[in-house]
Amino acid sequence: MAATDLERFSNEEKRNLSLGGHVGFDSLPDQLVSKSVTQGFSFNILCVGETGIGKSTLMNTLFNTTFETEEASHYENAVRLRPRTYDLQESNVHLKLTIVDAVGFGDQINKDERPIVEYIDTQFENYLQEELKIRRSLFNYHDTRIHVCLYFITPTGHSLKSLDLVTMKKLDSKVNIIPIIAKADTISKSELHKFKIKIMSELVSNGVQIYQFPTDDEAVAEINSVMNAHLPFAVVGSTEEVKVGNKLVRARQYPWGVVQVENESHCDFVKLREMLIRVNMEDLREQTHTRHYELYRRCKLEEMGFKDTDPDSQPFSLQETYETKRKEFLGELQKKEEEMRQMFVNKVKETEAELKEKERELHEKFEHLKRIHQEEKRKVEEKRRELEEEMNAFNRRKVAVETLQSQSLQATSQQPLKKDKDRKN
Ligand code: GTP
Ligand code: MG
Repeated sequence: MAATDLERFSNEEKRNLSLGGHVGFDSLPDQLVSKSVTQGFSFNILCVGETGIGKSTLMNTLFNTTFETEEASHYENAVRLRPRTYDLQESNVHLKLTIVDAVGFGDQINKDERPIVEYIDTQFENYLQEELKIRRSLFNYHDTRIHVCLYFITPTGHSLKSLDLVTMKKLDSKVNIIPIIAKADTISKSELHKFKIKIMSELVSNGVQIYQFPTDDEAVAEINSVMNAHLPFAVVGSTEEVKVGNKLVRARQYPWGVVQVENESHCDFVKLREMLIRVNMEDLREQTHTRHYELYRRCKLEEMGFKDTDPDSQPFSLQETYETKRKEFLGELQKKEEEMRQMFVNKVKETEAELKEKERELHEKFEHLKRIHQEEKRKVEEKRRELEEEMNAFNRRKVAVETLQSQSLQATSQQPLKKDKDRKN
């Protein structure tokens, strides 16, 4: 097809045609549903809230089952993320549900939200790595990206703790946050009303973006907009069954009365279940993929040097980006190599100079010692000469004395002979 034909064809308006009879593509939605049902679904919930706030109880109440739970100690060294995955089935729909607990969060000194952020990012990174593989298997990939973060607020009746605000602010661009007031049976109705207003105004004034139930789908727009006005939901959890009238209901029983979990005038549990599971589960999954993961992916790819258009608005080329990055990398490598070589040469020079200095010092020391030694030697030599002279003088004196002694001896031995001669004469 010639270029002009192509242009004309793409510029042409689409025309509506009527079909002569039933073709069958109206079954596409059914095909989609059937395929999804066969594949099964995954849904991942992150529970953030202080130890003992009622996270596990609420999960059990929400899914009407008993998940394995172990109480967290108040003395954890750091915040630890504990994911647990369960296979659930309702009718013919399979749900791979992962519940992630932020163990130790909010306890004494473990007030750190960083492990939570890192965990969310790691799940995005795993998905991105799978996407970037040459042989991808996203079809049966176990998607562990967090679809919703249930943020458990302590029912103080005052205001949000700064830890809550900081944590939610750090998480809001990474995950859909649904704030809930836990153990709502411990706060009175009027206090709860004021508390809800206070929380929402604090979230707004601190720029925390919580998940808004979508209002663009006509079928759920009304219920979702009504529910948005009820946030944060004040919930009560319990797996205990209590007889009310002639019905067994899940409730918390107190000496003064019974708090029914599923009674909408007692708490917002039903609203939460409706919004989280029955109406917006798919939207939460979609938002995770199209908003939060997309943002992570974009930042990550930009960090790696990929961009959609270059400054001259040329189309994006993976090959070019790769080449540029490779050149940059090689250039940097060369620079580093040169720096290291220079560093090595300098080090050798320094060591050489140090060694020379040491050699010079040693030489000087040697010369000094040599001089001392020569001086000592000269002194000893002088002493020896003096001693020799003294010895010679002594010997000379000795010889003289001996000569004198022998002469005097001779003289004394000749004297009697002379006397005898004189006498004879
Ligand atoms: P860790 O996992 O150890 O951090 O605790 P958790 O947040 O999972 O709390 P858990 O569900 O184990 O509940 C702790 C205690 O709070 C238990 O004694 C629950 O019975 C009680 N509890 C749970 N939900 C509620 C509630 O809605 N109201 C009241 N009053 N107590 C609750
Ligand atoms: Mg628990």
